[in-house]
Amino acid sequence: MTITAVRGFNDILPGDSFVWKFVEQSAWRVFASYGYSEIKVPVVEKTELFMRSIGETTDIVEKEMYSFADRHGDGLTLRPEGTASVVRAYIEHKLYTKPVNKLYYHGPMFRYERPQKGRYRQFYQIGAEVLGSAHPHMDAEAIEMLVRFFTEIGLTGITLHINSLGCSECRPGYKAALIGFLEGVKDRLCENCRRRIAANPLRALDCKSTGCIEATRSAPAITGSLCDGCADHFGKVKVSLSARGIVAVINPRMVRGLDYYTKTTFEITASGLGAQNAVAAGGRYDGLVSDLGGPATPCFGFAMGMERVVLLLQETGLEARGIRPDAVCAFIPIGAQAIDAGTGIVKGWRQAGLSVIEIFDEGALKSRMKMADRLGARFAVILGEDELKAGLVTIKDMKTAGQTQVRLADAAAELAKAAL
Ligand code: HAM
Repeated sequence: MTITAVRGFNDILPGDSFVWKFVEQSAWRVFASYGYSEIKVPVVEKTELFMRSIGETTDIVEKEMYSFADRHGDGLTLRPEGTASVVRAYIEHKLYTKPVNKLYYHGPMFRYERPQKGRYRQFYQIGAEVLGSAHPHMDAEAIEMLVRFFTEIGLTGITLHINSLGCSECRPGYKAALIGFLEGVKDRLCENCRRRIAANPLRALDCKSTGCIEATRSAPAITGSLCDGCADHFGKVKVSLSARGIVAVINPRMVRGLDYYTKTTFEITASGLGAQNAVAAGGRYDGLVSDLGGPATPCFGFAMGMERVVLLLQETGLEARGIRPDAVCAFIPIGAQAIDAGTGIVKGWRQAGLSVIEIFDEGALKSRMKMADRLGARFAVILGEDELKAGLVTIKDMKTAGQTQVRLADAAAELAKAAL
């Protein structure tokens, strides 16, 4: 019996990986233009880190973490998200000696969720965190960066939803009001939400069960309970977003599935993804660094789901956006002399940045051309003995079937030009 991958854990094959590369490179380019630099954090952390940051009564910690004891019995967890690790590293390496840190990261995250389109147990995120700024403009700037990234890769039809979750001053009052409301509709809530009313009432607003959605329709809105500081911050974020030409939908029910948020939270949804329509999400988390033992540090960040971004690009067309695999040139030398001379020629082309595969197999030119085609070559470059003597080479465009003979010395430049 053959062994298959674990359910919810996917291979990313060459037919897709060029799209991933395009997304990653575009993100790096845009993020770098806002002054972000990369941080690499481990895939495994102490379980306690996620319990203390994401929150013990969240779905992620209660039901979705891949936690295990290692050979020494230490409780470890495959990271379900990146923010907690970035904050841990920020404290551990005293990155706070710099007034503001703008950091981005990418890599696999792990959550034991029910796999479906756009939702996997191992999924990849690209995330960005800015640590050390409380300014509402920073919230808007980070959202602008994300929106600019989506625009640059050609994703349209996205909607930005924003909310404010208040702070340690105003949220307790809201929580009390919400608990009062939920107690009144308790019988209509799912078992999970009923159990969490006292510990984490906000979760009921995020619950996907129809009963809970119906029962909480007239729940009090958090935006009505914000203290002056939070209301002022939220107002300034909205003004700053609009000054940047970004349209936002205010969604007071959006509470997010992680407990560390304070003030601004947001989600970007896209049509065409079905139920799993959030392509990116994030917000402010001003209390997390101090909760984890660091100095009080206001922070803002977000993460996007790579699979969802790639799915959207694939569904709405790659060619039109100029997203395609690297153009491969198949080099076909004919005869012993051309094979020998070819080694040096191909080396030069590779050094010039071309992607070249050599088809050494002897045999009819026709079957070698077929092989070039099956290997996905964009061009076949044929060097026969007579051509070698004349310092020429034949380039065949595999897409148009057009054929030209060029000087051997000009071939690399011609191929590079044609590949654009
Ligand atoms: P999150 O909303 O849990 O936030 O995840 C962010 C994004 O990751 C989602 O919008 C979605 O695109 C993608 N995602 C989440 N779960 C899955 C899954 N099972 N399969 C595929 N994609 C998924 C966070 O993780 C926060 N750390 C974001 C953040 C950074 N907040 C502040 N800084």
